[in-house]
Amino acid sequence: FTFDAESEAEIVKVLKKYPEARKASAVMPILYIAQRQMGRETGSAWVPLVAMDEIAKRLDMAPIRVYEVASFYTMYNTRPIGRYHLQVCTTTSCWLRGSDAVVQACKKATGINNVGETSEDGLFTLTQVECLGACANAPILQVDDDFYEDMDGPSTEALIAALRTDERPAAGPVTNRCGSAPEGGRK
Ligand code: FES
Repeated sequence: FTFDAESEAEIVKVLKKYPEARKASAVMPILYIAQRQMGRETGSAWVPLVAMDEIAKRLDMAPIRVYEVASFYTMYNTRPIGRYHLQVCTTTSCWLRGSDAVVQACKKATGINNVGETSEDGLFTLTQVECLGACANAPILQVDDDFYEDMDGPSTEALIAALRTDERPAAGPVTNRCGSAPEGGRK
């Protein structure tokens, strides 16, 4: 695995935040840099083992320590995923506000049968995640790094239809139900 110029520039910035003797503290942002680069290069944002080995070498860490971090946090994908990563929060607030309907709509619109799978066309991977810290506008559907809030079945299907056509609607609250939509939030 070779970091490209964009990643190398980001790594330089990240490493500046830590003393040389504590550079292992940079493992999380650098894993994320590797994941983003894979997304740019292959359309599938994940961190292969060879990238983790390279990170371990650069940070003077045992490779197992890097694997532990990558496998503990759900934001790192340790196997290839679809071009769009649909992450439905199903923790209490989102569940009470209808996350089941969001999961069902994701399955219907992508043809995915079970959570954890990737659609046959390779476009979507569906996962369930724990609280995303945006409970006020539950339920939340995170697509890659974007939060779509206040979702329901029809808005989920519409979002996925837009993603299929390479359109990425503005993230944020969909309905402004709570009166907290920022300026420019989706209507
Ligand atoms: Fe879903 Fe908190 S419970 S964002």
